[in-house]
Formats: sequence, structure tokens, C-alpha cells
Amino acid sequence: MEKTFLMVKPDGVQRNLVGEIVNRFESKGFTLVGAKLMQITQELAEQHYGEHKERPFFGELVDFITSGPVFAMVWEGENVISTARLMMGATNPKESAPGTIRGDFAVTVGKNIIHGSDSSDSATREIGLFFKEEELVTYEKSM
Ligand code: CMP
Repeated sequence: MEKTFLMVKPDGVQRNLVGEIVNRFESKGFTLVGAKLMQITQELAEQHYGEHKERPFFGELVDFITSGPVFAMVWEGENVISTARLMMGATNPKESAPGTIRGDFAVTVGKNIIHGSDSSDSATREIGLFFKEEELVTYEKSM
């Protein structure tokens, strides 16, 4: 079954949006298979956002993501990678539709509440960066 990496960023944690965000993915029908509240180190931030290293906002991005705790999650389900991206809305909240997480809760691109893997390769890479295999569970939902 497909898995994706989602992370409530420091602004989402500060604004008490963890429960709201978990609720959206649970209500949709996806399965939470791993989760932790954690402080990202400088090294992990630079690895996670490595593809943006040459961007002018890279320093700001690393400073922000390490500025406070994040809530890192792994979700499982059919087409979860692309569906989670739709539920998150466009990266820049000024383009994200109402009803999406960024459309409902964010205003600026730097503080856009949530990160989600954009492809199968990045999901595999990001899950491996944030979670050890034994931190993920496998289970069938009976209800
Ligand atoms: P995310 O999905 O976490 O992936 C990369 C992040 O870079 C993105 O969300 C934005 O929060 C951030 N980002 C993109 N463009 C800018 C920008 N111009 N200034 C600051 N941050 C940005």
C-alpha cells in the first residue's frame, strides 16, 4: 500500500492545528502508521530540503523548520501521495483553494502549515530520513 510523509510545520504546531490536520486525513479514510512530535536538527533540515539548497530562501527555510517542534507523520492508503497534496492545497497559500489545509489556514508561502511528499521517490526518501523502520506499524482496520 502507498505511503507518504506529512509534517505539520512549526507554525501549525504553534497554532494548535495538529488535531485538525490529523482529523482531515483520518476522516478521508487514510491510515496513520507513524507519528511523532520532534525538534528537527540543522543537519536533518538541510538533508530534507536539500533540493532547495541553491534557492535564495534556503536559509530562511532551514531556520523556520528548526524554530520549534514539528509533528512528523506517515500515512498509508490508495493514492495517498497525490490525494494528500490535493488536501494540502497549493504550496503558496495565495493560490490554495478554500477547503484545503493551506487555503483554510495559511497566508504566506514560508509559513504554509504543512509539508507533504510530492512523489513516490520523495516519500521513500523522506520517510527514511524521519522514521526508523521499527517506528512504523502495520495493521488492518477492522472498523
Ligand atoms: P514545502 O512543501 O515544505 O517545500 C519547500 C518549502 O519552501 C515550501 O513548502 C515553502 O514553505 C518554502 N518556500 C517556497 N518558496 C518560498 C519563498 N519564496 N520564501 C520562503 N519559503 C519558500
